[in-house]
Amino acid sequence: MLSFTKELKKRRLRHLINWDAIPKHVAIMMDGNGRWATRRGLPRTAGHFAGMKVMEDIIYVSHKLKLHYLTLYAFSTENWKRPAVEVEYIIGLINQFVTEINIHRFNENNIKVNFIGDISRFSEDTQQLMRSVIDSTNGNTGLTVNFAVNYGGRAEIIHATRAIVAKGTDNITIEEFGKYLHTVDCPSPELIIRTSGEKRLSGFLLWQAAQSELWFTDEMWPSFNEYLYYQAFYEYQQRKNRA
Ligand code: IPE
Ligand code: IPE
Ligand code: MG
Repeated sequence: MLSFTKELKKRRLRHLINWDAIPKHVAIMMDGNGRWATRRGLPRTAGHFAGMKVMEDIIYVSHKLKLHYLTLYAFSTENWKRPAVEVEYIIGLINQFVTEINIHRFNENNIKVNFIGDISRFSEDTQQLMRSVIDSTNGNTGLTVNFAVNYGGRAEIIHATRAIVAKGTDNITIEEFGKYLHTVDCPSPELIIRTSGEKRLSGFLLWQAAQSELWFTDEMWPSFNEYLYYQAFYEYQQRKNRA
């Protein structure tokens, strides 16, 4: 829920933003779920649950704003090191994200869902669910949501390098290399957002972030909202206008 003042600021920002020049591809590091929960005396899992709800909201806001691509960092290659109960809970949320009811809603809104990362590390059931959402939304032409799970930029670059070596091509250019990355069908993000006050990439889109604008907020991911999203767009445009 947005507070009254935030709602007013959101309305003001709406008029200041040039909606024809917002980024086509936004990538978000949804960080701070654990701290959000701990500060409220709740278990970290409650933060992941709240974060999932906010993520769904932001997907539909992105759809409403006619973004072309939204890449969401949901689970990193490093996140396996967390306590097993937390890892299992997050994977449970990922499974919920790809249930029939959500697939129906993606299709209704012409949203295409893709997974980036090495999904082979998940159980066969989870992989099956992931493949079914990819297949059932494949024909959609609106917003593409890249869901980054078991994703790490260095792992992705190694994966691409192995594939390019196996193919034996000596035409190794920036453009050619990009075809071997998980993001093959998608341009690089113009804007990368990280919540929670941390100012690291934590392995996110290392190759693709080469020219991206980075925007940080101290708010934890479960407190992210449409107003902050607008603020990111506004500051992104201010920077572009200066350039
Ligand atoms: C981000 O929130 C979600 C995932 C990494 C899965 P965190 O769980 O990292 O929350 P903090 O950063 O510990 O507060
Ligand atoms: C980055 O957050 C990964 C996601 C948002 C899924 P982390 O909380 O895992 O990253 P570090 O450990 O702070 O670098
Ligand atoms: Mg974190």
